[in-house]
Amino acid sequence: MTEKKYKATPFPDGFLWGGSTAANQIEGAWNEGGRGPATSDFVRLFTKKMREEEPKEYDSRLPHNASTKEMVADMKEHPENWNLPKRRGIDFYHTYKDDLALMGEMGFKVFRMSISWSRIFPNGDDAQPNEEGLAFYDAVFDECHKNGMEPLVTLCHFDTPMHLAEEYDGFASRHTVDAFERYAATCFERYKGKVKYWLTFNEINNVITNPFTCSGVIFEQGETGNPYYGKWAYKYQVAHNQLVASAKAVIKCHEIDPDAKIGNMLCRLENYAESSKPEDQLQVLFEDHFNWFFSDVQAQGEYPYYMARFFRENGVEIEMENEDLDVLKRGVIDFVTISYYMTYIMRYKGEPVPKPSGSLVSQIKNPNLPMSDWGWTIDPIGFRITLNHIYDRYHLPIFISENGYGAVDELDENGYCADDYRIEYLKAHVEQLGEAIKDGVDVFGYGWWGPIDLVSSGTSEMTKRYGFISVDLDDEGKGTGRRGKKKSFFYYKKLIESNGADLSTDNIVEE
Ligand code: BG6
Repeated sequence: MTEKKYKATPFPDGFLWGGSTAANQIEGAWNEGGRGPATSDFVRLFTKKMREEEPKEYDSRLPHNASTKEMVADMKEHPENWNLPKRRGIDFYHTYKDDLALMGEMGFKVFRMSISWSRIFPNGDDAQPNEEGLAFYDAVFDECHKNGMEPLVTLCHFDTPMHLAEEYDGFASRHTVDAFERYAATCFERYKGKVKYWLTFNEINNVITNPFTCSGVIFEQGETGNPYYGKWAYKYQVAHNQLVASAKAVIKCHEIDPDAKIGNMLCRLENYAESSKPEDQLQVLFEDHFNWFFSDVQAQGEYPYYMARFFRENGVEIEMENEDLDVLKRGVIDFVTISYYMTYIMRYKGEPVPKPSGSLVSQIKNPNLPMSDWGWTIDPIGFRITLNHIYDRYHLPIFISENGYGAVDELDENGYCADDYRIEYLKAHVEQLGEAIKDGVDVFGYGWWGPIDLVSSGTSEMTKRYGFISVDLDDEGKGTGRRGKKKSFFYYKKLIESNGADLSTDNIVEE
């Protein structure tokens, strides 16, 4: 009986079920163990409500349109005035053993995490790596294996070392490219045999919309000597540098550990036309190109034809070193990974120059889809569509680096919550993932974003909870930090046990 049920699953044997995190959102201990500061340590709590109330929140000290640089300067001078949750995380630095045991209890086969670059090289470009930082990740990887999980490790997830940001404007400089290559090589050497799956940069396409977060870009107009600062020309120069850094890491990984596989990570923006007007569909094409650009370079090893016009009409002339095109060609990834949260609606914005929005949340509501409290559409079928699009484009194995549901949970005194909405979201997305696999898409793993409550990337809230495991901490960092199991913990455990065959929500055994 059981065997028959298990055979019904579309998921291949050995499918990597698990969850995904990032150092800057879980570790805390921002100034322990020899770690240097990173850009993520200078990101404040900025909730939806605060956004709406801006500029009241800090206008007594800074102009309401203060630049990142001005804010960072004030954070250094008056840290007591700022709530900087990524410095605290959920204290994973100290709790990793217990946390990984809980993931193991759910049956995880994979744990996606990232290394904090400034734990290994406190300034990003130091002469020697920090042994305490290296040893910490040795211990974490050992603990993953002990609990039956493969670590899948991102080298840089939104935390460029601050020194590289402040001295070199992050990836605007080739110095940072060289520093990244060395950091990557250090990790491959050290963790050879322990880590089979690597990713270079998290959501590399966010360089365009969030250059500080994604790429450590912090200089201001006038400081760079580059008249294109802040314009497309500057953004795509940074993107180019980061793509070269990514390709160099891929080459190093293959040289140092031929048994390891290395992939990219794209924030996949799947777009629908607002109407059946061809113009709206054309806008979908523009936006798609804007998004695919990054994975096209990483998977196909060259600049795609469609950017030439956009670059020409926007004064983008990429400065390249002689080796760059060859590096991009040699540094193609082994597998593709994406984050998938929602879909977007596109309306034509006019010719002759395509005007991609790059917005992370759809500006136009889709009347056919429900939304989360944060305005993110819930679109499981879009997940199947996007997986087909990716496979059709690259024919490379796919790992789902992120998919998840952020919600306000009512936790009881044990940290329990009957989070049926999260279970429904998970079920619907896994169903569509199964459909995509039946369609013939080669997917080898699924990482739920935030298997344990963690600090939000976009708003730095704890209130936006993703976890199957709760953490008793609020936006102010108050709470015991105690972990609890939500209803979804038991659902995911059952789902994994059956390798995705048993998705029913009415026989969840809560122990
Ligand atoms: C992705 C990031 O953009 O989305 C994660 O890679 C992030 O770091 C996740 O946490 C969810 O976004 P948010 O803003 O809800 O944390």
